[in-house]
Amino acid sequence: MTETGYLARTHREPPALLLELEQHGRREDVAIIERETGRLLSTLVHAMQANRILEIGTGFGYATLWMGLALPPAGKIWSIDPDRESSDIARSYFERANLSDAIEILSQPALDILPTFSGRNLDIIFIDGRKDEYPEYLEICVNLLKRSGLIIIDDMLHPMVDRNFHRTFLRHPELDAIILPLGDGVGLGSRIG
Ligand SMILES: C[S@@+](CC[C@H](N)C(=O)[O-])C[C@H]1O[C@@H](n2cnc3c(N)ncnc32)[C@H](O)[C@@H]1O
Repeated sequence: MTETGYLARTHREPPALLLELEQHGRREDVAIIERETGRLLSTLVHAMQANRILEIGTGFGYATLWMGLALPPAGKIWSIDPDRESSDIARSYFERANLSDAIEILSQPALDILPTFSGRNLDIIFIDGRKDEYPEYLEICVNLLKRSGLIIIDDMLHPMVDRNFHRTFLRHPELDAIILPLGDGVGLGSRIG
């Protein structure tokens, strides 16, 4: 058995709603984060008691739901995605998880929203939108984070993410950053500046 298989079997099963959403995503062939990345998001939200979270790229809401289920009371997630059809599917899962009041989907392209986004002092920003826009997301999002807040970027080692971006992220003057070889690579950067 591979180490990944061993760990997957040793973890407890995710909640039934997340399993259903995983299968839904697979059936419709939409991109969702790896289950292990979801577990990481959940652990980080719990550890930080993160109650102000921004996400770029909602999709069917799989990553949002991992974070939503770990939110402290009165926590809030703003999730940006211009695709209204997939957002409707995401909303149906948030409703079933009793998270409709905690999660708001903003239905415009991220770069139309971010420059005037009023949220500041965010605990976590999770980026999983257009890979070619990662550099712009990063520069805007660092300034929306609280000091010691965390920026998390999925698909860092995906071929569509430029190598120059790895360097920009890892050497960013305002971040203490690392890329973990989890799924397609997960970037974690804590704001130090
Ligand atoms: C990889 S999927 C997100 C998957 C989601 N994080 C999950 O794990 O369930 C990428 C999403 O980015 C969205 N997207 C495309 N262009 C975008 C843009 N300009 N701004 C924000 N999101 C965008 C797509 O509609 C798609 O739902």
